[in-house]
Amino acid sequence: MRIAMIGGGYVGLVSAACFAEFGSDVAVVETDPGRLEALRAGRMPIYEPGLDRLVSANVAAGRLGFGDDVASALEGAEAVFIAVGTPTRRGDGHADLSYVYAAAEQVARALTGYAVLVTKSTVPVGTGRRIAEIVRHVRPDLEFDVASNPEFLREGSAIEDFMRPDRVLIGAESDRAREVLRRVYRPLYLIEAPIVFTSIETAELTKYAANAFLAMKVTFINEMADLCEKVGADVHDVARGIGLDGRIGRKFLHPGPGFGGSCFPKDTLALMRIAQDFSAPSRLVEAVVAVNDARKAGMAMRVIAACGGSVRGKTIAVLGLTFKPETDDMRDAPSVPIISRLIGDGATVRAFDPEGMDQAVPLLPASVAYCQNALEAASGADALVLVTEWNEFRALAPERLAAAMRGRVVVDLRNVYEPGAMRAAGFDYQCVGRPKRE
Ligand SMILES: NC(=O)c1ccc[n+]([C@@H]2O[C@H](COP(=O)([O-])OP(=O)(O)OC[C@H]3O[C@@H](n4cnc5c(N)ncnc54)[C@H](O)[C@@H]3O)[C@@H](O)[C@H]2O)c1
Repeated sequence: MRIAMIGGGYVGLVSAACFAEFGSDVAVVETDPGRLEALRAGRMPIYEPGLDRLVSANVAAGRLGFGDDVASALEGAEAVFIAVGTPTRRGDGHADLSYVYAAAEQVARALTGYAVLVTKSTVPVGTGRRIAEIVRHVRPDLEFDVASNPEFLREGSAIEDFMRPDRVLIGAESDRAREVLRRVYRPLYLIEAPIVFTSIETAELTKYAANAFLAMKVTFINEMADLCEKVGADVHDVARGIGLDGRIGRKFLHPGPGFGGSCFPKDTLALMRIAQDFSAPSRLVEAVVAVNDARKAGMAMRVIAACGGSVRGKTIAVLGLTFKPETDDMRDAPSVPIISRLIGDGATVRAFDPEGMDQAVPLLPASVAYCQNALEAASGADALVLVTEWNEFRALAPERLAAAMRGRVVVDLRNVYEPGAMRAAGFDYQCVGRPKRE
């Protein structure tokens, strides 16, 4: 089977490599010259564990290729996936669909026979219908179907998520389109992954509903963490106590600096706008957006308070810049407002992230000093803030940190350290939602 993938970013590249691993021939179209050059040279333009090996094996097997020419990628393709970005549209919070529509138009012009146009990008309800209109307008003669196949992979475990998904969701309305997509996902039928067929609108909305629900869980536990701090309770025990209830579940109940990343912030905002447009506003989603924005904006205040009310003239080490570990993705990362505020208030920031520093540079103030490792960042610092819970930060011995730092303030926004061990090492240790002293 031949597949074309429009967009070779986090979702497009992982999906393409996994489809190739399933045995299909996959042609990726990527317009960013830097990303394309890297892919053609065998370098990964993004960091995702295991992706380099999967891509190189499938390129070597002749099942995966990269280019910028849509027409040659579409030759013989039965399924054309659109996996381009859908960022927040400037000014109003809606999803910006210009990349999706431009891709649909390019595909329509280049197709020579029947194909299913499948949106993998996260798109608002009605986008599939609009793509069908665009294609019909450009090519009234063409036989085609549209389908929606939203992606649920998580950066950091994207390959495993794609190969062993909790479910595959397919919104399609013709038997022919369903048959093509069944063949695309045949290896997942064999491992009995649930494949759910719905209407196109249902699939489009389900993706937003899933992300909004997860974002709501994170926001809920963050609010509980704030309350725990006031009443002297421990949010980890609260999370365990509620999470063991099968109706609630244990995942996504980790308190932190507020959710970021390429999906939750823009998707909650877009769902809020979709619901308003259809006169069915979601006050719950609106509250999640507002509470999370305020949390991220306010996180620097915790550090400032921990430093005695002012960071002017102080050196702050920041460990972790990406929005979560095991990715280099900096989109909407909480580290950005935290560091910007600390520097705005007169601090010097020394930062380290294992994979995200290249992507961080254009987003952070120019004065940030980027270090080679965690201990170098901590060296001579008055205070240390842990923003992203990379495993290598968990393994740092408190005594080594203490020896490197000048001051004794540690603000752990992910609760990775053992409070007793940190305090025993002489730190004024602050974490999220746990009693100040044990
Ligand atoms: N990143 C995630 O974890 C994730 C998870 C699930 C769903 N999604 C959704 O998937 C979509 C893509 O997200 P991403 O993180 O992969 O974005 P991304 O920005 O990393 O990748 C998009 C790629 O598409 C390319 N592109 C844009 N227009 C093109 C065109 N006309 N032809 C060829 N290439 C084109 C861009 O150059 C870019 O490399 C979004 O809608 C996102 O919401 C993302």
